[in-house]
Amino acid sequence: MGIKFFEDDKIFKLDAKNTSYIISIVDEEKFIGHVYYGKKIIDENVNYLLRLEEPPYVPSKNNRDRVSFYDSFPMEYSTHGIGDFRETALAIKDFNGNTTCKLRYCSHKIYEGKKELKDLPATFGKNNECTSLEITCLDEDANLEVILIYTVFESLDVITRSVRVENIGKEEVYLTKVLSMCIDFDGLNYDMISLHGSWARERHILRKKVTYGTQTVSSVRGESSHQDNPFIVLLDSSATQDFGEVYGFNLVYSGNFLAQVEGCQFDTTRVLMGINPSDFEWKLEPNEEFVAPEVVMVYSDEGIGKMTRTFHDLYRNHLIRGKFKDKKRPILINNWEATYFDFDTDKLLLIAREAANVGIEMLVMDDGWFGHRNADNSSLGDWIINENKIKGGLKYLVDEVNKLGLEFGIWFEPEMISPDSDLYREHPDWCIHIDGRTPALCREQYVLDLTRKEVVDYIYESIKKVLSSANITYVKWDMNRQITDLGSSVIGKEQHGEILHRYVLAVYDMMNRLTTDFPNILLENCSGGGARFDPGMLYYSPQIWCSDDTDAIERLKIQEGTAMVYPLSAMGAHVSDCPNHTVGRTTPFETRGYVALSGTFGYELDITKISEEDRNMIPKQVAMYHKYNDLVREGDYYRIDNFSENNNFDSWAVVSKNKDEALITCIQVLGRPNYHSRRIKLKGLDENSMYRNEETNEIYSGGVLMNGGINLTDLYGDYAGKLIHLIKC
Ligand code: DGJ
Repeated sequence: MGIKFFEDDKIFKLDAKNTSYIISIVDEEKFIGHVYYGKKIIDENVNYLLRLEEPPYVPSKNNRDRVSFYDSFPMEYSTHGIGDFRETALAIKDFNGNTTCKLRYCSHKIYEGKKELKDLPATFGKNNECTSLEITCLDEDANLEVILIYTVFESLDVITRSVRVENIGKEEVYLTKVLSMCIDFDGLNYDMISLHGSWARERHILRKKVTYGTQTVSSVRGESSHQDNPFIVLLDSSATQDFGEVYGFNLVYSGNFLAQVEGCQFDTTRVLMGINPSDFEWKLEPNEEFVAPEVVMVYSDEGIGKMTRTFHDLYRNHLIRGKFKDKKRPILINNWEATYFDFDTDKLLLIAREAANVGIEMLVMDDGWFGHRNADNSSLGDWIINENKIKGGLKYLVDEVNKLGLEFGIWFEPEMISPDSDLYREHPDWCIHIDGRTPALCREQYVLDLTRKEVVDYIYESIKKVLSSANITYVKWDMNRQITDLGSSVIGKEQHGEILHRYVLAVYDMMNRLTTDFPNILLENCSGGGARFDPGMLYYSPQIWCSDDTDAIERLKIQEGTAMVYPLSAMGAHVSDCPNHTVGRTTPFETRGYVALSGTFGYELDITKISEEDRNMIPKQVAMYHKYNDLVREGDYYRIDNFSENNNFDSWAVVSKNKDEALITCIQVLGRPNYHSRRIKLKGLDENSMYRNEETNEIYSGGVLMNGGINLTDLYGDYAGKLIHLIKC
């Protein structure tokens, strides 16, 4: 059992592989205190860490300074209004408009396994893999029960947290903030990492020092966003890839989120994470409950790299689902960068024919096949094939593609509506809008009001009809704008603050229907590139399009940041044409292949137009994918050099779980004059085993390859890349 309750001392101890997490019930009023989170320890009662014998003391000993107690005690789940003036996790407005909430321990239960979170994506585990704890706390004045939910994954360093709030009173209560976790760390000597960016440069790693005051990473855009990812790391300021204590926090949610790190007055650091309270207010009627999304917490005592590998293992085994979770995915060619909106059946078949000749396995028809869409200004919502372009209809096209030996995939943007669409003309009130105010356009489109069930049903049924009409085995689910002009024709002012969360729940509901009705379809999420690369989406789709920026060099930073938390098997990555459409850079075709190989691998170019030299390279790249994809998908990922830090050279390795083989990718972004060969030190090998370099046949021990290193003698030129494959002998 990974969770124990010590009755005499009123202590909960949660033990994962190398992690301990300790909660204690203190004083007569049964405050729930956070005692310890870090490297595994054998003690359970370490209450001395709470400093209860120091001023301001607990209220039973010193009631005159109760507020000082609230303002310094490490409350396991901090609440608003009582005197904890740091950032808090829970805020309410009761029937009388009061906003204070005070929790005390009431009861608890510990059980094997993990329950699902109602209507939300979450990690899962079998009874023998994890143990859960639910601590019920009570605010008897506000008539609220707050259940703190924990799960320990015993063979990993993972603890998940979530919160359920139940109204046990006779009047409604408004929840104005329900974050999913709160932890107070002693000390302030931490750094914080977040994944920051914008369109075409998502998830660049940003590391900064934690200081007094609040440092926030968030989204208020209705999606998890290009700009910030729902992931932060708190780490010792001296921690590196391979050393030091590191705590990673990732919210399993795809909408507005908030992650806060607060350096507090007594040199403690508070971390909070959950749904962003901005534009959030949830009306809880008597007997109703609200469930907050899950936060995954990973502890590493061996630097950032070990945290990363733990997230990868957890997500590959306990989050991603479906037929493709552990499978090699078909190599696809997507026509977006090949044709944009300018395509028809003939053009697609030409591409498919060439693709089949070189070993590509699937054709994906991107945006522009429906309604009268020939640019990004119309037809979203009219999910009817445009037979002027797709002559002979969808089934004909799919059958022809299948005859060439390729599977067929299709693009949708289910959450959107174009003002120029039959759907909008018929239902102008089906978009998110404020009555009487014209909503702002973004990419010339509006967002559908998915809080309305009839809208969700209509859209889902239109998509289902298309998917049932031909042999379609892949869907790219896109989402290309942020949500503004928050309003709904059906949601009254009392529930206005529910729109954004209800929207996210409806997206999950649609994805659930899709994956249930079409279990053989490979679903790839996308949001204007990578604006929804989050664990919520991974629960429904085993892969997510990483970025619209397909330039191999730009991708180094994007993929490094993404891979800090999300597995390589989930990163949508394609070889595209040069000069690259986003940055105008020309990189060798080979290098583009090496970078895409560390993701899902596919193509996004007009294969009928690229040079013969490049086209001839595709069969080799296809063979490379088939040779290495099992290793890339399932292996342990190690960062060796970071272009994001040195602006010159990037390298990473994937090592098989049994350490029998390793694949090292090296990308020299800029050539260097007048130096010796570059030397890299490998990681993750077995130091006492011998490894053969498949290319050179040289044999060295893992020990020397990791401690002495390997010389890269044949990297010449800017953007040059190479793979090194080591096999244990
Ligand atoms: C944004 C996506 O990221 C692209 O790959 C492409 O599908 C376009 N949308 C189509 O509109």
